Amino acid sequence: MRIYKEPDYKAVSRRAANLISAQIISKPNSILGLATGSSPIGAYQQLIMWYQKGDLDFREVISVNLDEYVGLSKKDPQSYHSFMKEQLFDSVNIDPKNTHIPNGMAKDLVSACKDYDTFLSSLGGTDLQLLGIGENAHIGFNEPSNFFESNTHVVHLSQSTIEANARLFPSIDLVPKQAITMGILTILQAKKIVLIASGPKKAQALYQTLLEPITPNVPASILQLHKDVSIVADEAALCLIPDELCTKISKR
Ligand code: GLP
Repeated sequence: MRIYKEPDYKAVSRRAANLISAQIISKPNSILGLATGSSPIGAYQQLIMWYQKGDLDFREVISVNLDEYVGLSKKDPQSYHSFMKEQLFDSVNIDPKNTHIPNGMAKDLVSACKDYDTFLSSLGGTDLQLLGIGENAHIGFNEPSNFFESNTHVVHLSQSTIEANARLFPSIDLVPKQAITMGILTILQAKKIVLIASGPKKAQALYQTLLEPITPNVPASILQLHKDVSIVADEAALCLIPDELCTKISKR
């Protein structure tokens, strides 16, 4: 595991974008696992700038997103489909046919989850999985639980996640109560993982993720088991972890 401790969100975004662009440059047909939320927005903006300068080419990239709310149509402004179009897809030359996001409107959600897993397996795992982290250390929408759920599944969002995500909706009542998310095993099958965290609200989650025992109550703690994880975080998010521990963890 490697920790990139950056001074602020701008530097976090640039660092994360660097890691993603290195992946695309070294393998133009990379399979990228993409994330939503505020955390990756700056990295996406940086990638768009490099694309516009002619330094990056998404023509052969395949993307698979972590999650989607249940009950929001693709066109709903709060859906993750809309988020990805606005924040990245519409501004780069990725082929829309190569972009994949779980279908939260499926009549049969269980089958939709199975289909997503079958598709992910056919790809053989992502080359690079981008992650944010929830204040309760959820990744994707894998909420704290008594066990790690392996595969893509429907999840009931925790009250704390609903509250944290309410800022993006006109009212808290409009935040969906359920989502479809890739499971933990699928996330761990990525060859590389890049987790972005910014701001003091993520400090506790990062502390538990990096320094406490692995437990499904802290879903991101499972990342301790992955062999190629980069944590890209600002000083505020890493404020509970002394510098010498950051260095120690980076050497693990
Ligand atoms: C949502 C997403 C997660 C994301 C989390 C944190 O719950 N499903 O993938 O990591 O929010 O979001 P933010 O980056 O806005 O803090």
